[in-house]
Parts: sequence; structure tokens; C-alpha cells
Amino acid sequence: MSSFNTDIAIIGGGGAGLRAAIAAAEENPELSVLLISKVYPVRSHTVSAEGGIAGVMSEDDSHEKHCFDTIRGSDYLADQDAVEFFVNEAPKEIIQLEHWGCPWSREENGDVAVRAFGGMSTKRTVYAADKTGFYMLHSLFERSLKYPNIKRLDEYFVTKLVTDFDSTGGETNNEKRAEAMPSEKHTEAENISAKTPRVIGCIAMNLQTGELVSISAKTTILATGGAGKVYSFTTNALIKTGDGMALAYKAGAELKDMEFVQFHPTGLPRTGILITEGARGEGGYLLNNLGERFMERYLPNKMELGPRDIISRSIMSEIKAGRGFSGPYGEYVHLDIRHLGEEKINEKLPLVREMSLDFAGVDPINEPIPVMPVVHYSMGGVATNVNAKSSLKGLFAAGETACVSINGANRLGSNSLAECLVFGARAGLECAKECKSSKLIHVSARELADEENRIAELLQRTGSKTVATVKTKLQEIMQKHAGIERDHEGLVIGLNQILSLKRELKNIELGDKAKLFNTELTGYLELENMFVIAEAILRSALDRKESRGSHTRSDFTERNDEEFLHHTHVLQDQKATMSLSRKPVTITKWKPQPRVY
Ligand code: FUM
Repeated sequence: MSSFNTDIAIIGGGGAGLRAAIAAAEENPELSVLLISKVYPVRSHTVSAEGGIAGVMSEDDSHEKHCFDTIRGSDYLADQDAVEFFVNEAPKEIIQLEHWGCPWSREENGDVAVRAFGGMSTKRTVYAADKTGFYMLHSLFERSLKYPNIKRLDEYFVTKLVTDFDSTGGETNNEKRAEAMPSEKHTEAENISAKTPRVIGCIAMNLQTGELVSISAKTTILATGGAGKVYSFTTNALIKTGDGMALAYKAGAELKDMEFVQFHPTGLPRTGILITEGARGEGGYLLNNLGERFMERYLPNKMELGPRDIISRSIMSEIKAGRGFSGPYGEYVHLDIRHLGEEKINEKLPLVREMSLDFAGVDPINEPIPVMPVVHYSMGGVATNVNAKSSLKGLFAAGETACVSINGANRLGSNSLAECLVFGARAGLECAKECKSSKLIHVSARELADEENRIAELLQRTGSKTVATVKTKLQEIMQKHAGIERDHEGLVIGLNQILSLKRELKNIELGDKAKLFNTELTGYLELENMFVIAEAILRSALDRKESRGSHTRSDFTERNDEEFLHHTHVLQDQKATMSLSRKPVTITKWKPQPRVY
């Protein structure tokens, strides 16, 4: 089959995508929902989320507290209307997921258990041992099988979003449209507004056969996760190459706050495998080479349960001061959970033990775990409003792909799984609503042919570079110049290097010319996306001449609300270059104040 028609196309089969599909399918069983995923959905990165999902569940907690913690954690850059909506919805989603079979860990009295997490003022993180994402993803996937109106295209990689001009409202302007799409002939009389491009679907590659298909959709949701793979040292799976963000950008949507990249304090050296914050939530200590709980020096009131940006910077300060440990894969500190005892470790943190044994060769029952800060999460993403709508008509985004923003300059651990559910559901419901009034516009045969030609040209191209070498170089540049601490000079060097490396894309020759499961070809297409993300991070970071949350500038060490209490938006301009603009932060009742813990 080379073309599909659907009411709602969802790109990405992880937590946010599945939740969106279920919400839409439940809202209106007549709607057709097509879930397109480059990996089989239960292999999505949600599966590797560990420590838990935040939501107000206990009587000691309140919505007010969760809002404040999230806003303070964001260094006052979160949009507060979005945070309030999120906090209100999160507990409902957690209960809903339990009803769909998610086996949350329990307290002795049978209540859903909650554990402490960084930057939270009370225990608020619901969990399923330390395999929360695994259980959530499987519960969502199994639930999605219940709805006959959800169809799936597994192992399809979306290469392009297709836009047209909206036929609802606005003055007609066929000439303008013809100018924008010069090679396309328009035979029918059209009523097209030149002003409002609309996403009408996408082109996707069936990875099993290499065949391209067109997908026409009234509405499209992006839920492809984040972009951690633009760095060389990350907790992120290989698949997290920022595809949804790059697709949106190339189609003309705005990206927001891309400068904010979260480093998780505790990754295993070499692999970057995540050691969950749950380990500290259950009482684990961070120790330097003097055996000191060094957080006493930086955050005595919170110790190991501070927010991730502050803990990661503290670890780096210890290492800089010569109080870290040295190993073949860099310098690190220790995470010590020995005092929790074998029984608790096996019950609450079995994956931490397994990973430490398999990938660091230490048994945390007897030895401390070596850990170092590691790229974990993109606070930025496709700019969306509280209804998950992007700046482009017909296009929505949810989960890590989106920037609503509830995370601002620094996300609190365990808010992201809740974000996937809350805004996944919101995106599904909004699309269901929008489908009532929108018409399906067919992706033209010409769009498909153009993309087929582009891919054919890639397979035939000769050159002296490989995907692997260019990708590795890109990751090294980002790790070196857009890391935990940044400055003007390093960012400029990074940007220039990325722009010149980007020119090498044309010089890449694919060794594999076959169509069947050509992972090198997919790697190339992902690499194109990674260049968009890398450039957006660097340009946005250069523009933000202050330190806020995860964005630490050694040349501008203070937060500067007077000049920088704004979101950074990037957009592809008429000349296909990246342009920046600034948009206000929505403040409701939490006025910005110094971020003290
Ligand atoms: O440490 C963790 O378990 C990560 C959680 C998160 O990123 O929300």
C-alpha cells in the first residue's frame, strides 16, 4: 500500500503517542487513528524510564506544592498556566493507568507508594520498583489494543511532514501557493489562504522494505521523544535523534527553549546508562574521594535530593577541585546505597543492582556505584500551548518532543512521565475535536515522488564520509561546547564547527545500497535531524546571556530576569536559515524570586 488516509496521524509510539491514541479513540470510536513508530512501540524510550511518575497522591501533598516545586525547579521559566493544568491532571492519569493494569508499588497499608525525588518538597513520585517506564509502556500498549480504530504502522520512519495551505477562511491566493510549490500543477479551483500553512500528513518509509508511503491526515501529533543523541554521553536510546522536533521545524513550526538540556547527575561511566534518582530518593548518598557527602557543601537543606541541575554542577565542582575519582572513561563520584541493605535494594532498586553489575562490574550491595552527570532530557521542543497545539495548523506535539512549557530551564525528575500522559491525552482529545471541522487534504502523488527521488539520490551518492564518522563528530562537538557549563567563545566555536560539519552531509556515501532494513540510510536521515537540533541548541544558548536552570554560562553567571525572563523561539525563515525570537513567560501567581532550597 503506498497511501493511507486517517483522521489522526500520531508519529511516535511511546508513552505520549500511545496515550494520545487511546484518548482520541475513546473520545470518538468513529475516528481513524494511525500510530506510526520507527521502532515497535514497546521498544520506545519510555520503556527505560526508571524512578517514577509525579502526581499529588497523598494527604500531605497539595496541588499548590507540586506547582511551586515545578516552577521553582524550572528557575521560573515554566509557563504557569500549563503547570497548573498539568498538576491538576497528573493524579487522574496515574489512577487511570492503574485501572488499565499498571502495577504500581504499594505501601504496607495497600496505598499506592510514593518516594522522594529531587527538588520536590514532599514524597510525590509514584513508582513500579525501578522499572516504572517498562510497566507504564506495556500497560498503555496493551490498552491500545482494545480499540479497533487504532491502527499501527510499526517500523515506519517519517521522513517529512507535508504542508498545504489552509482552505478554511482567509483570502484566496493561488498564485502565492504556486510560488511556494512551483512544480505542482493545480487543476481544480481552490480556495486557499496563502497565510496559513497547514500540516496535511507525512511521508514515511517502511523500514522493512524501504518503500515510501504517503499518509494524509486531518491532524498530526508528534510524540517522538527527545534529542539526547546529539550528545556523545547520554542516557538516551539510539532512537532519540530529535526527529519530531526537526520534522516540525522543517515544516515551519517554532521550536522553543532548545538551549535547556538536562544533565542527570547519575549515569554510569562509558555507557551513560541511567542510575535512577530513585536510588537517592530511597536514601542513597553521593560521596567524593574523601568519603564526604559533598552535597552538604552546596545544598545542605536538600543534600542528594536537590534538583538535577544543581546536583550535576556540584558533582562537576567536586571533580574540578580534585575530589573525584579517575577511571578509564573519565572522572566520577560515588553513589552509595550499601546502607539501604540487600532486601531493600532488591525490592525497590532491582534494576540499579542489575545495571551496576552488568555495566560497571560492581554490586551496590557491597560497593559504591561510579556515577557522572550525563545528558538525559530536552527541556526544549516543539512550541505548544496548553492544548498541545503547535504554531502550525493541524500539528500537535506531546511528551519530550513538545515544549509546553512545564519544565522551563530545568525539569524535576518524574514530572516527564506524567507530562507524557497529561499532554498525550490532551493532544488526542484536541485532535478529536479538531477533526470534526477539518477536511482531509490528500498528500499529492508528487510529494511522494519527490521524496522517493530524494532517497534514491541518497542511495546513489558517492562521497568520502560515512554516517558514523559525521555523527560521532557532531556528538563530540556538542558534548564539548554545549555541555553543563558554556561560554560565548565555546558556543561560537561549536556553532561554526556544526555548520561546517553540516556541509559534509553532501559528502556522505552510504555503504549499504539495499532497501531492506537499511539502518545506514535511516541513520543518515536521523543525522539530518540531529543537525537541526544541534544548531538550535547552540544558537539559543548563545542568545541567552545569563545562567538559569540547566543553562550555565561561565561568562554570565547570574540569572537575569530583567533581560532574559523569556522563552527562546527558533523558526526557519524565508531563506531557510534559523531565526530567533523571544516570547513572554506566562506567570500566574508565582512571581519570580531567588531560587533557594
Ligand atoms: O532518575 C530517574 O529515574 C529519571 C526520571 C526522570 O527523568 O523523570
